[in-house]
Amino acid sequence: MHGLLPILLLCSSLLATTANADPTAESCQSNTNYTRGSAFQANLDALLSSLPATAAAAPTGFAMNTTGTSPDQAVYGLAQCRADVIDTSRCRTCLDGTAQDVAAGKCAGQKKAVLVYDNCLLRLSDERFFGAVDMSRVVYLYKNQNATQPEQFTPRLGALMSNLAKKAALESPRMFAVDSAAVTPFVNIYGMAQCTRDLTADDCNRCLVNAVSSIPNCCSGMKGGQLIYASCSIRFEVEPFYNIQAAEAAMSPAPFPGGGFDNGSDHSGPGSDGESIHNATPPISYLP
Ligand SMILES: *[C@@H]1O[C@H](CO)[C@@H](O)[C@H](O)[C@H]1NC(C)=O
Ligand SMILES: *[C@@H]1O[C@H](CO)[C@@H](O)[C@H](O)[C@H]1NC(C)=O
Ligand SMILES: *[C@@H]1O[C@H](CO)[C@@H](O)[C@H](O)[C@H]1NC(C)=O
Ligand SMILES: *[C@@H]1O[C@H](CO)[C@@H](O)[C@H](O)[C@H]1NC(C)=O
Repeated sequence: MHGLLPILLLCSSLLATTANADPTAESCQSNTNYTRGSAFQANLDALLSSLPATAAAAPTGFAMNTTGTSPDQAVYGLAQCRADVIDTSRCRTCLDGTAQDVAAGKCAGQKKAVLVYDNCLLRLSDERFFGAVDMSRVVYLYKNQNATQPEQFTPRLGALMSNLAKKAALESPRMFAVDSAAVTPFVNIYGMAQCTRDLTADDCNRCLVNAVSSIPNCCSGMKGGQLIYASCSIRFEVEPFYNIQAAEAAMSPAPFPGGGFDNGSDHSGPGSDGESIHNATPPISYLP
């Protein structure tokens, strides 16, 4: 069963101190419950006490960790921020919010959970999922407004998103890509593709290609859409919804001065004033 929020406000917090918006999407698996006060819960709590901070402090905004031992007590967790959310405090705020939401009862008692927010995501399981592509659908969301000139919009969208899938999977170290395409002189499409960063390039590509091919099932002819899976997601809008400078930096092979985007030495990359663009879009109402 997928417990999905019917409507969501995609409002990026403008201040690092503001609380998270509700998750954009969540998937809880009710066939795998744990008991209150169990060793599993203690291990979950231990995991969540450090994972958000560890991921936010990593220059890539990504971390995985395991606590406890199989078969009954192990908890596997993956946390990551969207690759253009390079401001450490915004990343941390979003990830802390995921842990707070779990503590507050999101996916209460469930051993498996995927919580997806605008700026970050958290995945928890009692089974080791690291590196295994999971194309199960979390949610499809669409913006309930028809695209103008769909006969042009639809093929442009398809070409843009196919290209982004390839870029994110095969060319971007963060498994993240954004780009825009003109439909008419007055209408642009802005797109994004991303994978969880435990995947191989090939698996990321498979997940994204599957997502792109599912656009007709989700949001054909609509002005906006999000197809969210456990291991990857794609999104398109007619207005910008990402930080272009930060996104460019995240997509380049060496986003941080001195290179080494993986070695923990520095996370104030170029354009790290991450406040600038996230408020470009007013909150958008989506429907599942
Ligand atoms: C797990 O917990 C949920 C929420 O409390 C409940 O709806 C569901 O029936 C439980 N499933 C099992 C297998 O116990
Ligand atoms: C994993 O989580 C445990 C419990 O919070 C913590 O002590 C440990 O440092 C974490 N390991 C890594 C590599 O983050
Ligand atoms: C979109 O267009 C279809 C037919 O072209 C129409 O039936 C529908 O009401 C429109 N939806 C919105 C939200 O404008
Ligand atoms: C991190 O990257 C910098 C710049 O490339 C390098 O000088 C440094 O040795 C690296 N540190 C580690 C721990 O790998």
